[in-house]
Amino acid sequence: MRTESDIKQNSLINVSQQIPSVSADLQAGCDMSNLRSMFFVVGFLVYLISQGAAEPCFLAAKGSPTFPANFSFGVATAAYQIEGGWNADGKGPSIWDDFTHKNPDKIRDKSSGDVAADSYHRFDQDLQALKELKVDHYRFSIAWSRIYPTGDISSKNQKGIDYYNNVIDKLIANRIEPVVTMFHYDLPSEVQKIGGFANSLLVNQFVVYAIELFENYGDRVKTWITFNEPYDYCQNGYGDASYPPQVYAPGVADYLCIDNTLKAHAATYHSYKSRFAKTQGGRLGITLDSRFFFSRTNDEDIVDRGMQYGLGILAHPIFSKSGGYPDIMIMDIGANSQKEGRIRSRLPSFKNKWRDIVRGSADFLGLNYYSSRYIKRASKPNGVSPSWERDMDCDTSIDSNWLRAKSDWLYCVPEGLEGILKFIRDEYDNVEVMITENGWSDDGELIDDNRIRYLRSHLQAVLNAINDGCKISAYTHWSLIDNFEWLKGYTEKFGLYAVNMSSPNRERTAKKSAGYYKQIIESRKIPSIF
Ligand code: BGC
Repeated sequence: MRTESDIKQNSLINVSQQIPSVSADLQAGCDMSNLRSMFFVVGFLVYLISQGAAEPCFLAAKGSPTFPANFSFGVATAAYQIEGGWNADGKGPSIWDDFTHKNPDKIRDKSSGDVAADSYHRFDQDLQALKELKVDHYRFSIAWSRIYPTGDISSKNQKGIDYYNNVIDKLIANRIEPVVTMFHYDLPSEVQKIGGFANSLLVNQFVVYAIELFENYGDRVKTWITFNEPYDYCQNGYGDASYPPQVYAPGVADYLCIDNTLKAHAATYHSYKSRFAKTQGGRLGITLDSRFFFSRTNDEDIVDRGMQYGLGILAHPIFSKSGGYPDIMIMDIGANSQKEGRIRSRLPSFKNKWRDIVRGSADFLGLNYYSSRYIKRASKPNGVSPSWERDMDCDTSIDSNWLRAKSDWLYCVPEGLEGILKFIRDEYDNVEVMITENGWSDDGELIDDNRIRYLRSHLQAVLNAINDGCKISAYTHWSLIDNFEWLKGYTEKFGLYAVNMSSPNRERTAKKSAGYYKQIIESRKIPSIF
């Protein structure tokens, strides 16, 4: 579908194609008529530059053009989205295996991650791409049910453990740092049978699994991420039920899921610090995702409200000085719960010492940023009651000039990345941020100029934020290869490399954006031309 911004962009490209013939006039001599044409050319160039500033998916540079020498560039993937081998070598089922098998109609192309890019059998092809890109780090996730097929230590599976040993060894042999996510949506089915994230038993189960990972891989893995995007798997999995495990308990189980995630994360952090960090020397954080919000009326309170309900629900308990959930959420949800006739708030309160255990329990904040929205107070009650949406009580909208990706929720708003990084700097005492995901979807074309525009403008946002004092140590592009995009199956592609999904060998082919990213990694600068 051609959007308004596509049309504007095409007209810009056509205009700029005229530059060579106009500049040829300049070389023709300097008589009066040439002088006139020179004025014309200068005026025309000024016009083009001013148009360039309005180009969609573009961000102007501020400050130094070079990334710091120790800044780390990488790419990310996740187990269920690329590995396949869903029941290979003793792996147990996860909630995503069950969901795709039982409800193929819920996936746009009725597909599943059963084979995906087959990375379980073809990691060497991924390694080849990583080497070509010359990345500093590779972020991948471990499938809990490959290590413990039932989620529990009693089911330990050596073949699953060996698979990741091989991945880690090969990365290190090629001087690529492994950045390991312990959980990226694929909860072992057996853990869900007893309630999953809605049951506080999960806290202990997760710590036992994490210790298994530290014991097996901690000699080589120095950067650990406990959870990927709790906001999403809690809201979609335990709130509106659009994702597995499809528990429909909005405004109740989604908050419980957040609470248990925070506790499991913090308990893992303290186990690592007390038992492993000294000998292994690594660090541990969590990956949170959030949009940034803008107000058309410059209302800072509403922007803050949006940020607290999105990022703050997870970041405030861990990264703020005071700890606990954001005050605004405690107040709103407490008041709403009372109106609903409840005797306690639907937002759990950290009892005993939990507030202190969670506060400060991370060495860095992993940030997944994709897009932003405008925000204002809701004109009428939103969503069902009760729900996170109803509690938040805001309406969001987009700017029609924003360039849209294949995914209907994904607009290119690089200013939002700069905004969120500054928000984190100011709100959470300039904690170290690793950008653990950022990426663009399309139909899978090899000449993917819009992905390059997205990459260029978002890296510019990162550089601008660094130049503005934000402590950012890494950028990780989503994704290395095209993969299973959850409810959208294989219809939305995020890879720097295409994967031939109809070939048994699943060949990987570099897209134009892979070459562009490689240039950035090698030069530590952002080329403006591509
Ligand atoms: C998730 C990825 C997903 C990507 C694009 C992120 O929220 O971590 O698993 O593929 O967004 O939707």
